Amino acid sequence: MASAPREHWSSRTGFVLAAIGSAVGLGNMWRFSYLAAENGGAAFVVLYLTITLAVGIPVLLAELVIGRGSQQSPIRALAHFGGRAWKPLGGVFVAAGFLILSYYSVIAGWTVRYALIALGEGFGQDVAEHFSEVAVGWDAFGYHVAFMAITVFVVAGGIRGGIERTALVLMPTLFAIVVGLALYAATLQGAGPGYAYYLSVDLEKLLHWSVLKDAAGQAFFSLSLGMGAMLTFASYLKRDEHLPNSSLVIGFADVAVAFVAGLVVFPLIFALGLEERIVGSKLGTVGALFITLPQAFAEMGAIGRGVGSLFFVALVVGALTSAISLLEVVVSSAIDGLGWPRRRAALVAGGAITLLGAPSAWNTDVLGLVDQIANNFFLLGGGLGLALFVGWIMRDPIAEAAGGTEGIGWFPLWRWLLRLAVPAFLIFVLAYAVPETWEAARNLFADLLGRSA
Ligand code: TRP
Repeated sequence: MASAPREHWSSRTGFVLAAIGSAVGLGNMWRFSYLAAENGGAAFVVLYLTITLAVGIPVLLAELVIGRGSQQSPIRALAHFGGRAWKPLGGVFVAAGFLILSYYSVIAGWTVRYALIALGEGFGQDVAEHFSEVAVGWDAFGYHVAFMAITVFVVAGGIRGGIERTALVLMPTLFAIVVGLALYAATLQGAGPGYAYYLSVDLEKLLHWSVLKDAAGQAFFSLSLGMGAMLTFASYLKRDEHLPNSSLVIGFADVAVAFVAGLVVFPLIFALGLEERIVGSKLGTVGALFITLPQAFAEMGAIGRGVGSLFFVALVVGALTSAISLLEVVVSSAIDGLGWPRRRAALVAGGAITLLGAPSAWNTDVLGLVDQIANNFFLLGGGLGLALFVGWIMRDPIAEAAGGTEGIGWFPLWRWLLRLAVPAFLIFVLAYAVPETWEAARNLFADLLGRSA
């Protein structure tokens, strides 16, 4: 197949910002801080950092090495280094892209709607009822369609003209908003107990196996690992990029934004005395984000309008740059594998994913289950496959990784992590996560069947 020469990022900053854009998203601003608060505070933050460093960054580097080395989308990249037998793993990655974007975009649609409300009339006291109305049904589906349309538009614009350009503008904006909001939150009377709730150390909560599983799942989701998103972005890199440095920068930026987002959320909620709505409540992470915070913005009057607008705009920005990377996995595979032009690939893939999101748009339990299946099964399993692939199958990953660097430094340690420690850890976590997901799926189906009977 005669195809056009592969596009490349126009600058190192462009690639790094796009990769950070993939990593920083709803996962950072919505789930991380809540997990930390519920599971041991600062101790959880330390555990999370350790997993990111010892498991996340090695797998991230593995993805970057496969992508840059092969200059191909995931399915072909794996075949390039491992032979045809590895194509199915790439197929699983593409399937994961479909699945994750289908519900991610529904949540992103809620954030678009909230950003428009914040910028327009502002939040009222009735956000709770309001949320249950807009979270499902045609409303939710409509905003999901709109969000997918924007995502398709950017991806259709190509690597430089679409994805890189978007990241160069949006990521600095997002950093500025999140840091600005955290500084503002620190000035509020009564912010102190919010910090305490978020970060006070509670080792007893930390010491459960399920916490390890949650932390690992969150690390993979937040770093966009285990389904070839980072691999795909790296396939547009030239050979001179210093991959270990890039993976460290991406990893730390991701953790930093997640951490700082927690410094926004909890001080705000506690300063306004709304903590009883989230502490130990069943509202969960989604409730904290879409009900309690808007209530806080409503109470804050005029300032709340501005703060609320900035907050939800930041969420939309984070969601968009993440959704772009998810769609790009599918689109690049259709371009390389089927020989489609980029525009057609973006439209067809985007359309199919939009339809696949319908069940999530009409039922939040389905959304939650798909999220669980994606995290616990696809991402952790995909990460295991990637670690084994680079650790045992690829002929000389160290030479591949060393391109663009001087000397081999930590590379032997990296390879041994991928060979033994990372797989052992992931198998352990999967052994815990898979039965749990299976159970959740059975319950939901029993519930759905019971309801319709
Ligand atoms: N990392 C993003 C977030 O935290 C979501 C995301 C984008 C993602 N691309 C991904 C998750 C690939 C898993 C795999 O919101």
